[in-house]
Amino acid sequence: MTAQKIPHHIAIVMDGNGRWASKRFLPRIAGHKQGVESLKRCARACDARGVRVLTVFAFSSENWKRPTEEVSGLMDLFALVLSREVKQLKADGVQLRFVGDREGLSARVLQHMEEAQAATADNTRLILNVCFNYGGRWDIVQAARQLARQGLDITEENFNQVMALAHVRDPDLVIRTGGEQRISNFLLWQSAYSEFFFSDILWPDFDEAALDLAIASFIQRERRFGQTSAQVQAVAS
Ligand code: IPE
Ligand code: IPE
Ligand code: MG
Repeated sequence: MTAQKIPHHIAIVMDGNGRWASKRFLPRIAGHKQGVESLKRCARACDARGVRVLTVFAFSSENWKRPTEEVSGLMDLFALVLSREVKQLKADGVQLRFVGDREGLSARVLQHMEEAQAATADNTRLILNVCFNYGGRWDIVQAARQLARQGLDITEENFNQVMALAHVRDPDLVIRTGGEQRISNFLLWQSAYSEFFFSDILWPDFDEAALDLAIASFIQRERRFGQTSAQVQAVAS
């Protein structure tokens, strides 16, 4: 086993809010509300464990296909949470970054995003990337368009400069809660060499112990990046 540290960057597909609510005979939005509480707990726990970047999938490019009522409920909740939590995030040293297509979002949501991002821009303890109206395919296409516009060569290095998460390293660990084992158009480019951890726990129930299980699993893995185990061991020793 290679001695590995705590992951620098954890990315999470926060899935299972709807099922959490249905099990309790509550409307789906109640699950999303509880999901926000779970995110707050998870961000604090990541910080306490030395994780420096947390990236979460909050609303996908495909989530617009949900019933109008759920989409507008999610937009309202997002705007409310941003205005309510910004002070605490600031005090906790969390730098909020929004990642995703701004197209299609209302002026009200955009304004809350701008304000929250500006208010926390100088924080350095934990970077919290919130992927909202985000899709991995969107990201690759927007990056290609930027390169074309700037007349730059289509190289991996140039792509890395213009992808939506260019300000952070690639995720070391990608967690998906809620029992599904799929990527659902999350970090298609950036997860090329991430370790994956799938948990059956529904996102609102994902607590510190569940996070510790995922991190413990990550620490057990040997990341080879295409090399042989012997090569990796030689560098590590
Ligand atoms: C994830 O939970 C949150 C969003 C997609 C906004 P879901 O709403 O997908 O919950 P399930 O998968 O239906 O339980
Ligand atoms: C992925 O979950 C998106 C978010 C967690 C925001 P979904 O619930 O939308 O994914 P699918 O539809 O089950 O693949
Ligand atoms: Mg889901």
